[in-house]
Amino acid sequence: MSVPQTRQRCASCGHELSDTDAHTRCPRCQGLLELHHPEPTGGGAELARLFDQRLAVRTGPHASGVWRFSEMVLPAASGDIVSYPEGNTPLLQRAAVAEWAGVSELLLKHEGLNPTGSFKDRGMTVGVTQARRVGATAVACASTGNTGASLAAYAALAGLPAVVIVPQGQVAIGKMAQALAYGARTLVVRANFDRCLELADEASERLGVYLLNSINPFRLEGQKTIVLELLQQLGWEPPDWILVPAGNLGNTAAFGKALSEARRWGMIGRVPRLGAVQAAGAAPFSAGFHEAFVRRHRVEPHTLATAINIGNPASWDRAVRAIRETDGVVTDVSDDEILEAKAVVDGCGVGCEPASAASVAGARRLAREGVIRPGERVVAVLTGHVLKDPAAVTRYHVETAPPPPRANRPVEIEPSLEAIVAALQVTARHLRS
Ligand code: F0G
Repeated sequence: MSVPQTRQRCASCGHELSDTDAHTRCPRCQGLLELHHPEPTGGGAELARLFDQRLAVRTGPHASGVWRFSEMVLPAASGDIVSYPEGNTPLLQRAAVAEWAGVSELLLKHEGLNPTGSFKDRGMTVGVTQARRVGATAVACASTGNTGASLAAYAALAGLPAVVIVPQGQVAIGKMAQALAYGARTLVVRANFDRCLELADEASERLGVYLLNSINPFRLEGQKTIVLELLQQLGWEPPDWILVPAGNLGNTAAFGKALSEARRWGMIGRVPRLGAVQAAGAAPFSAGFHEAFVRRHRVEPHTLATAINIGNPASWDRAVRAIRETDGVVTDVSDDEILEAKAVVDGCGVGCEPASAASVAGARRLAREGVIRPGERVVAVLTGHVLKDPAAVTRYHVETAPPPPRANRPVEIEPSLEAIVAALQVTARHLRS
């Protein structure tokens, strides 16, 4: 009897490929591929116990917050894993954020604390490992910044050349700096992200470069571990809600897949509701949700949260499935709401980039609308680090006029104690005590 193996299956036509096939789309119909793993023979509870035992592991692949869950990620990968390690991010509780959002229990899953400062590392460790498994000679992606930063770092780790394609003037400085520093060939295109992705898709096909955008199913397997890890941190007791910022919809799709597998395999008794939060200026998925997804939307995107400035999300169909299977919702929040949420998250010492704060702004929106009910436990995912976009910080705190409610203006002074005393509006005695 043959041992069951992970297969890739086209979500559109059902065509099956082995897990070492190098196509990143279905070779028959160009549909998106999806991984199917063999069910654990011992059941979900035993698998959860195995994952818990591995928490004590300090070296090797199982020390990673991605590869700890290898049976649900890429069971066949072993000796050739490309890992920092990544994951193992904290689940934080900050009263000021919960109070601002009007949610009784709000936990922050801080993915900004990954090696390159965003959740992308979870998908990229799997994607670049897979690039090696299929013998890729180069890797590429289109990016609003974080995917490119992560790809550049993991490709450098694997010794593979990387090409990063970004929209001109729409990538935060920290992310651009990373792509350059880690040595990726960085192409700045005079167009938006959606066009960059079309180009990356076309170019990778023509040039034989392995594409590592989130249409690549191996990326999503890694991103599933955000959910697996937070469930583990909660003792496999699911929260009522998981809120996530939504752009190209890779995470929304990955979260849905993680939850449906965890439920099907018996690791959890019920499925939390997913809340996908878009920026109002780039909200095609929210528009689709509000008309029951009868058609696909495409918009010309405009938001200050550049990470999610996306008008034609690639993982639309699988994200629709994720929302349906989790009784989820999609909402959108204005740039002002995002910036205020960010100021609250930053102000309690946690810090995140603008797009990440969409999940917290979404929590407030949904609580105010009564969708999130009193007493419900909510996990909001913070997708990227505060230092990714320092320009957004200075714009809010230094440049915006009139100053927004939480602006923390720096004060320029003469080099004297009197000037310090005057600026702090205290007496010299206060300073001494
Ligand atoms: N938050 C951050 C910080 C991101 O960088 C992204 C996506 C998202 C949220 C949205 O996630 O696309 O899975 O819905 N950034 C991609 C990039 C597009 O190129 O870095 P999604």
